[in-house]
Amino acid sequence: MDNLAQLLKESWTLVEEQRDKLAGYFYARMFLSDPTLRALFPIQMDGQRDRLLEAIVTAVQTIDDPENFDEYLRALGRDHRKYHVKPEHYDTMGAALLDALRQATGDQWSVEYDQAWRDAYRAIAERMQAGAAADENPPFWHAEVIGHERRGSDIAVLTCRPLTGPLPYRAGQYVSVEVPLHLPRMWRTYSIANAPREDHTLEFHVRSVGAGWVSSALVRRVRVGDLLRLAAPMGSMVLDPHSERDLLCVAGGVGLAPIKALAEELARTNRTRWMHVFAGATTRDELYGLAELYELAANHPWLSIIPACSADPGFVGEQGEISEVFARYGPWTTHDCYVSGSAALVRAALRTLAADDVPPENIRYDAFGDL
Ligand SMILES: Cc1cc2nc3c(=O)[nH]c(=O)nc-3n(C[C@H](O)[C@H](O)[C@H](O)COP(=O)(O)OP(=O)(O)OC[C@H]3O[C@@H](n4cnc5c(N)ncnc54)[C@H](O)[C@@H]3O)c2cc1C
Ligand code: HEM
Repeated sequence: MDNLAQLLKESWTLVEEQRDKLAGYFYARMFLSDPTLRALFPIQMDGQRDRLLEAIVTAVQTIDDPENFDEYLRALGRDHRKYHVKPEHYDTMGAALLDALRQATGDQWSVEYDQAWRDAYRAIAERMQAGAAADENPPFWHAEVIGHERRGSDIAVLTCRPLTGPLPYRAGQYVSVEVPLHLPRMWRTYSIANAPREDHTLEFHVRSVGAGWVSSALVRRVRVGDLLRLAAPMGSMVLDPHSERDLLCVAGGVGLAPIKALAEELARTNRTRWMHVFAGATTRDELYGLAELYELAANHPWLSIIPACSADPGFVGEQGEISEVFARYGPWTTHDCYVSGSAALVRAALRTLAADDVPPENIRYDAFGDL
């Protein structure tokens, strides 16, 4: 480990236990030195407070792996344009971070630590700003909701059309979505559930979670005619155009969205690769999106769909957690593997794939929560 990384890790041990305090100081400093910055953040900041600070700290801590982080930081900088972040805001935030660290650690802080955090923050901010400056796309697209269909009590399938030109993306990617009418400045990521279409429309499958802000608004409050904002596409769960391997796709609940997009994409060109989709849910009511996939499979014999329920004894089909079910059909060693759904599902699926010795470079996944 080089000296910078060593200093960052060492100094972080002083603050680690006092994250709440650090977050408090950080936001207070930032909003005090530039009160206009408060308007960039959601009205309701509970729970979110730490997300930004944690992200900055994680980024700073991994500065010793710049190669790996470069593309991520550029994409993050591009994406930050949706928050109306300007280059000068990075300095204000950097100063607030340093002040907060000093205040939280008191006498234990040293000049060396100060310099290390300053250097690391600057390196990250420069990459993010470079990413933002190089992006020719708009910071976000306005899109009109043209279809809103409830599937069961918690799930909605939404279709929307960008009003300010097409939103270019690849099947399997996701975008950040804002519902400005109900929850201004609150953005969450949702997978696009269709391959790019000629009419540029986009489909989303949203499940409202417990007390979830944005998912509840998208499922229960949004109506046809409402406007959404969609930010630049992200994610690498896309098809490898050079691969000739068969595909294994594992989806839990609305994790089916990007898998459906991949199946549609493959249907445009595929003649030779088998695609096996395992779709898991707790009960059959949550298997909301199979009809469209069965329709695709009827015209494309290379596509097979295996639904499973983990807590519905009356379900005629596979029973059990989806990672146990697809394990029974393995081994999957020579497949390109795609997994999407809750963090628990992704973790279990990755364990099964590791047991099958699937090379990590042949696995792509999106976890819909913190892994
Ligand atoms: C790459 C990616 C793609 C995603 N794609 C989709 C998608 O296609 N469809 C979709 O519906 N969601 C998707 N998500 C999840 C989505 O981004 C939101 O996290 C989710 O909708 C919850 O947001 P919220 O504002 O409603 O909840 P928040 O207000 O953020 O959370 C409120 C409370 O709910 C809890 N909570 C948050 N998420 C969950 C959860 N999944 N299960 C149980 N409790 C939870 C939180 O801990 C918190 O206590 C995706 C996430 C990622 C990272
Ligand atoms: C080192 C620099 C920074 C890093 C690593 C960083 C990282 C992040 C990350 C990972 C998130 C979580 C959501 C997302 O992925 O978009 C986030 C949210 C956010 N960031 Fe940054 N950011 C940085 C600088 C800034 C600056 C300079 C501003 C402007 C003052 C800013 C404003 C925001 C806002 C408004 C949010 C949304 C917060 C919320 O929803 O509560 N960020 N940031």
